[in-house]
Amino acid sequence: MSEKQMEWWKSAVVYEIYPRSFQDSNGDGYGDICGIISRLDYLKELGIDAIWLCPVFRSPQDDNGYDISDYQDIDPIFGSLKDMEQLIAEAKKRGIAIILDLVLNHTSDEHRWFQEAKKSKSNPYHDYYVWRDGTESEPPNELQSIFSGSAWEWVPELKQYYFHQFSRKQPDLNWENPKVRAEIYKMIRWWEQKGIGGFRMDVIDQIAKEPDRGITVNGPKLHMFLRELSSVVFQGKNLITVGETWGATTKLAKLYSNPDGSEFSMVFQFEHIELDQEPGKKKWDLSPLRLEDLKRVLGKWQKELYQTGWNSLFWCNHDLPRIVSRWGNDEKYREESAKMFATLLYGLQGTPYIYQGEELGMTNVRYALEEYRDIETLNMYQERIHAGYTHEQIMESIYAKGRDNARTPMQWSKDKNAGFTSGTPWLKVNPNYTVINAQEQQKNPDSVFRYYQRLIRLRKTYDVFLTGYYQEVCPENPEIFAYTRTADREQLLVICNFYANTAAFDLPEKGGSEKELLICNYPDIQDERKLRPYEARMYRYQ
Ligand code: GLC
Repeated sequence: MSEKQMEWWKSAVVYEIYPRSFQDSNGDGYGDICGIISRLDYLKELGIDAIWLCPVFRSPQDDNGYDISDYQDIDPIFGSLKDMEQLIAEAKKRGIAIILDLVLNHTSDEHRWFQEAKKSKSNPYHDYYVWRDGTESEPPNELQSIFSGSAWEWVPELKQYYFHQFSRKQPDLNWENPKVRAEIYKMIRWWEQKGIGGFRMDVIDQIAKEPDRGITVNGPKLHMFLRELSSVVFQGKNLITVGETWGATTKLAKLYSNPDGSEFSMVFQFEHIELDQEPGKKKWDLSPLRLEDLKRVLGKWQKELYQTGWNSLFWCNHDLPRIVSRWGNDEKYREESAKMFATLLYGLQGTPYIYQGEELGMTNVRYALEEYRDIETLNMYQERIHAGYTHEQIMESIYAKGRDNARTPMQWSKDKNAGFTSGTPWLKVNPNYTVINAQEQQKNPDSVFRYYQRLIRLRKTYDVFLTGYYQEVCPENPEIFAYTRTADREQLLVICNFYANTAAFDLPEKGGSEKELLICNYPDIQDERKLRPYEARMYRYQ
């Protein structure tokens, strides 16, 4: 196999599906695997190469499937193993790989291992999890769960606490135990044999915890565990592997995505995502994004990983708000700003990820508290009300950052429930579906959908997207984010007006080279040196 084939994921575009919100096929209000199969042609048309499928494994759904009770079965709300096999086969026919979402930091408390583990201290599964002695009134330490409250849950029968970094129904696995690691490898091999194209690994930088020392992220044994995992089940299989790592720095990312393949293909880093929160505080503590910070952070990742690692490129996922509402404009300039963000991201080096509905410019929602479903949001509400925040303050945080912003059903058409379900959707559909939906956008050559399609095609046409070196242009400009990517014989120039006012830009003269406009989010260019609200352009010089 040539090196290029081995690294197919470098030129791939990945589409993330949140199954319960994508397409319902049986009217129960939850999206399912058969629903996804029925939409594969849509994805093919968009031009993607792989689907990252959020967890569809058997689960009590306390955290929408991120609490797995059986890794080798499909939850009935999503379908059956047979449906899954069919999805893999149907996707393959269309040249699309399926990436599974492996939650390896924790299981559900309803997983057989945990059910056994809590029977007695001498049970062979006890040590699959992280336990500490204590007394009911005094947990081992002050560590907090990411979903609010103590990270320790008391089990009276054992007079012990178990450790959970997420909900109490998500006990953390003990990676120190070689038997746990062996079980995980066996399970991954089983999926590989079914023709899976890759894996996304949930909160993978939290597996090497040392709770007694207060260490939850980036524990000392992390890279040892990951290298073992990779050498036992990933290497030599031409897979795409991507870790979710909130604690990544560029230095760590060079280990994770080392070109020698010793760990993963790449990781999701979140430094740019955390720029609109108060430093040192939580995501709910809002603070406006400063363009200069975004330039600095994205630029740093581009430069530092050049030839020493690989970036994943994303604005959105199932945990994050919609980008047009977050940093763009979800009213007058919704389409322009959606396209601008796409242009900005797709010119960069790395593998782009589209989160379902992003290709339509879907927006955030403002619901009443009772209409939200997300455990993180609801727990945070309780915690903050008790801490003295007002209802209004908390709601502002939820409108801005709540995970349900991303989880409202996919907007397929103007039909009832946006064509998502014939039943009652598990989460209310965004009322703007009559205007923003896939059917309309497929008919319209200037839609956000068509724009994404064109960008994806461009990335596959010119090598400069793959190899070009990143250099920022006009770093001091407060309104424009511009950069070049330079390869042997070609150069890309990306210019984006980040705001709703007109901005001036000095288009560089490059004597002797030919300039071609690859894409622009306005129908024509009136003045090369003036950018209209959220105007974005990509030029190629040769
Ligand atoms: C990751 C997932 C998120 C989930 C959490 C716990 O951050 O993306 O949705 O709640 O891990 O598994």
